[in-house]
Amino acid sequence: MNTDVKLFIDRRPTGRCALLLHVEFGDAAGFDLAEAGELARSADVQVVDVLVAKRRSQHPRWLVGPGKVDELRRALRQCEADLLLVNNDLSAAQQRNLEEALHCRVMSRAELIIHIFAARARTFEGQLQVELAQLKHAHTRLVRGWSHLDRQKGGIGLRGGGEKQLELDQRMLEGRIKTVQARLRQVVRRRQRGRWRRDRSGITTVALVGYTNAGKSTLFNALTNAAVGAEDKLFATLDPTLRRLLVPGAGELVLADTVGFVSRLPHTLIDAFKATLEEVIEADLLIHVLDAAAADLERRIEDVEGVLKEIGAQAIPRLNVLNKCDLANPPAPAATPNLLPISAVKGIGLDQLRTQIGQMLGVHTPFEVRLPAWAGSTRAWLYAAGAVVDETSDGDGELRLTVRGDKRLMARLRCDLDAAPQPARRAAEGKTPPFVGMAADQQRSAAGIN
Ligand code: GTP
Repeated sequence: MNTDVKLFIDRRPTGRCALLLHVEFGDAAGFDLAEAGELARSADVQVVDVLVAKRRSQHPRWLVGPGKVDELRRALRQCEADLLLVNNDLSAAQQRNLEEALHCRVMSRAELIIHIFAARARTFEGQLQVELAQLKHAHTRLVRGWSHLDRQKGGIGLRGGGEKQLELDQRMLEGRIKTVQARLRQVVRRRQRGRWRRDRSGITTVALVGYTNAGKSTLFNALTNAAVGAEDKLFATLDPTLRRLLVPGAGELVLADTVGFVSRLPHTLIDAFKATLEEVIEADLLIHVLDAAAADLERRIEDVEGVLKEIGAQAIPRLNVLNKCDLANPPAPAATPNLLPISAVKGIGLDQLRTQIGQMLGVHTPFEVRLPAWAGSTRAWLYAAGAVVDETSDGDGELRLTVRGDKRLMARLRCDLDAAPQPARRAAEGKTPPFVGMAADQQRSAAGIN
């Protein structure tokens, strides 16, 4: 990843041993303190002490008052921390003033999240997205008075003697932002071409969404037998990872694992990851993975719904699963009454999940079909699509298959049987029709009528 930003944003080095400051302002809903601890753990930062402060309003200079700043200085010395994590939003000036007063690196919640994303980005696209978020964040931090920014610069290659370092930094950042955006557009176009190819060939996409650490990657692995890194750390997944998934009756689908959501994700990150979340917007079905062991399940559901709304994905059919049911069995939240309990780790409920995915995609209940002897290739693809539930033979060369499938599968089956070789069709005339025991609506679907 490009680290240019560090060259011209002079900051104290990031420490690994942190004091966590959490400030509550009156009745305003702040960020969750427990989540801050998890975020720190995900960033490989050890929180050695926590300081909670209550204030009516923000102090413009340091967020907290001068007395609290002294207390912070003493606490940092006492617990030998080299980093102050602030579980609040900080203005650029507040962050700079705190760093100056405390002589250590100060990191806001937004910066910590971007830091985690930077460490986790795996693909080129993910790395570009994180770099863009970092650059945009740095751009908002460019304020007069930040250590180096008062210096005057001049000389060969620079635009006129006396140009402020601040303006130079701004121009450098803006130039880099444009370059990264252009590269990102190229990568996104390439990925879109892949998605169009999938669309053209009628491949259904199912996307896993959910709060970070809910178990999406573990479920992704369990359903597809893939080995995507599943760690007990927030944001373990940053890039959309696509794998084939076989759903009985619906054949092969594409399953997409996506970035985990978190409450009030920094906006620079949402913007940067919009392209990744396109996998979600374009999906035919979303599986919302909920964490049964999370204490604040209702709030997490709201947060996920908020992000889905923000990216325009709220109308996509949704299947809600309550993962980690081996750990806890909480009552279903009012907002999502039909939850399927599963455990991705123990493999509990995964067959039901596959069946429900099929049902959501329009897979009918099983029906019987007679296959004449010439339809060997039809039998083969029905098996490949995982559509055959049972098979018996009549002894006269015909096979009775119990099959389940979605509209597309039914239409293909109808097409195959209609395309029977002429002698075979004549021989089949007068026999039982190929679709046996189908309800009227199934027959209509099989004929491709909606
Ligand atoms: P992000 O990438 O941060 O969005 O996380 P994720 O939603 O992909 O979560 P991940 O699959 O990385 O799992 C997070 C942690 O939960 C890991 O330690 C998993 O082992 C654990 N986990 C996942 N599913 C289950 C489950 O069914 N039961 C139990 N006990 N633990 C689970």
